[in-house]
Amino acid sequence: MIVTIVGAGRLAEGIAVRALAGGCTLRLADAEPGKADALASRLRARPPQLGRPRPGGVEAATDVARLAGLLAGADVVVLAVPYPEGRRVASEQGAAMAGLTVVDTCNPVDFSTFDTLLTSPGMSAAEEIAREVAAVTPAAHVVKAFNTTFAATLAAGQAAGLPLDVFLAGDDSAAKEAVAALVRSGGMRPVDVGPLRRARELEAFQLLHMTLQGPLGLDWGSALKLLP
Ligand SMILES: NC(=O)c1ccc[n+]([C@@H]2O[C@H](COP(=O)([O-])OP(=O)(O)OC[C@H]3O[C@@H](n4cnc5c(N)ncnc54)[C@H](OP(=O)(O)O)[C@@H]3O)[C@@H](O)[C@H]2O)c1
Repeated sequence: MIVTIVGAGRLAEGIAVRALAGGCTLRLADAEPGKADALASRLRARPPQLGRPRPGGVEAATDVARLAGLLAGADVVVLAVPYPEGRRVASEQGAAMAGLTVVDTCNPVDFSTFDTLLTSPGMSAAEEIAREVAAVTPAAHVVKAFNTTFAATLAAGQAAGLPLDVFLAGDDSAAKEAVAALVRSGGMRPVDVGPLRRARELEAFQLLHMTLQGPLGLDWGSALKLLP
């Protein structure tokens, strides 16, 4: 599976580690020149037992100006950029996203108050991105995923010794299955929570999860998991 990740920050690194553990081929792009290349170098230097890419596993790394070339032929594109940059990427690259599964990972938290979301009531960041994409091409499908998994837990591949749950919301079953396959290949459990509008609850719940880091002393190492 070819996975293009837009944004080469903390979450991108965590997802990249899991994708490489699952044998995916990665393409990386970031707004800051050199940042995707630096991530590619870190990934290539990982010890094999921690999920170093096979030769060619990180196929390309560049700045976002050359992103369109990294979208052609990809199976999944992961938007790992801060809100509302995903909307901008979607509107600028929508045509190049035709036929792709687009994963929105963002948490549209108002960091000035750390008390609310920036989206309107009855809306989610994922649905905003889906609207941008749909305005350019009807042939791309947005899936909300990875917004409840902190970067450090993805890099570790577990939390408290348990495999991570990755909650998926989306309206297209084939697109959700593509993301589920990516999740499974990285040793995690995909949990289909329903249509894309369920992203509202995923984003709201993650705000709660984030605000509890300090009070519970979790240090961004906790995970949301459903246990029987
Ligand atoms: N970190 C986590 O544990 C975590 C967990 C779940 C979800 N998320 C979500 O994941 C997203 C990324 O978070 P992060 O913690 O990885 O942030 P981060 O470390 O700041 O990385 C974001 C990266 O995206 C780049 N970027 C910004 N706008 C861009 C654009 N238009 N095109 C390409 N690259 C762009 C930034 O470049 P510049 O530095 O030049 O701005 C930065 O390198 C956020 O939406 C966040 O809510 C994060």
